[in-house]
Amino acid sequence: MIRPRRNRKSPAVRALVRETTLTSSDFIYPLFVHDKNIDESIDSMPGCSRWSIDGLVKEAGEAHAMGISAVVIFPAISENLKSSDAAECHNDDGLIPRAIHALKTAHPDLCVITDVALDPYNSDGHDGLVTKNDKGDFEIINDETVEVLCQQALCHARAGADIVSPSDMMDGRVEAIRTTLDTEGFQDVSILAYTAKYASAYYGPFRGALESTPKAGDKKTYQMDPANAHEAIRETLIDEEEGADIVMVKPAGPYLDVISQVRNTTTLPVAAYQVSGEYLMIKAAARDGWLDEDAVMMESLIGIKRAGADIIITYFAKQAASRL
Ligand code: PBG
Repeated sequence: MIRPRRNRKSPAVRALVRETTLTSSDFIYPLFVHDKNIDESIDSMPGCSRWSIDGLVKEAGEAHAMGISAVVIFPAISENLKSSDAAECHNDDGLIPRAIHALKTAHPDLCVITDVALDPYNSDGHDGLVTKNDKGDFEIINDETVEVLCQQALCHARAGADIVSPSDMMDGRVEAIRTTLDTEGFQDVSILAYTAKYASAYYGPFRGALESTPKAGDKKTYQMDPANAHEAIRETLIDEEEGADIVMVKPAGPYLDVISQVRNTTTLPVAAYQVSGEYLMIKAAARDGWLDEDAVMMESLIGIKRAGADIIITYFAKQAASRL
C-alpha cells in the first residue's frame, strides 16, 4: 500500500521532505518615518509606528541584527509640504534623503530600499500628477509623472539608496528611471519594480498611516484590475525588458495565483508584498482571540513563499524572524 503519511510521521521527517523554507533573509521590512522627534504608534496598524529618524535607525538596526537584510521606507509628509507638483519628492534635504543617509551611516550593510511614487507628496493623494481634461474629469498624466519619478529616484540614489522601488504603476517608468540612473552614474542602484500592483482595498490601513488617501477618485486607471491576471504577465515581460532587477506582485495572499504565474514567466527574482490589510486582518482576529497570531502569520508567509515568491515584504518581518 502506498502510504504518504510515512513522510509526515515526525518533525524530523517532515523537515527533511519539505521543499519550502522561510528564512529571515527572505524578508524586506517596511518602515514608516516622519519628520518629528518622537515615535508614534499607528492606530490603524497595531505593532507599527511612524518613526523619528533616530527611531528608524534603531528599529532597522534591531531587524538587521535578527538577520533581516533589507528595509523599505515610506514617509509621512506634513500637509504643508504637499503640492500638486509633488516637488518635495526630489528635495535633497527632504525627509527620505535624510533617513537614507542616517540608515546607511549607522548600518552600512543594511540594504535600504525606497518607494518611488508621488502619493505621500501630492496634495491630490495620487501616485501621479493630476490634471483636469476638457470635460472637467480629472486624469493621472503618465509621461509628465514619469519625469518627476526619475528625479525622485535620482534624489534617493544620490542620498545612498541601494534599491529604488517604483510603486506608481505609470507606463514606461522602469526604462526611464534606469536610463536616468545610468546617465547620472548610478549604474549600481537596482530597481525593484511594483510590476503587478493591483487596485486593492487592502491598502486602506497604509493610506491611513500616511494620510495619503486620494482626495478624489480611485487608482483604477493605473493600478491593475483584480480580475485580470493576464496583465500581470504582460507587465512582467515589459518590466523585464525595461531593465527591472526584481519584479513584485502586490498584494500577496489574495494573489497567490498571480505570484505563481509571474514566477513561471521570468527568471528574475520575484517579490510579493503582504500589504497592510493582510497584516491587519491577522492582527485583528488574533486580538479578539479568534486566531493564533503566530501560527497564522507563519502559515501566511509560507503560503506566499510556496506560491513562488523569493522575497516577502511584510510588516511581520521582525516578529516572524524571531520565530525562525
Ligand atoms: C503608494 C503605496 C501604497 C502601498 C505601498 N506604496 C498604497 C497605494 O498604492 O495606495 C501600500 C502598502 C500597504 O498597504 O501595505 N505608492
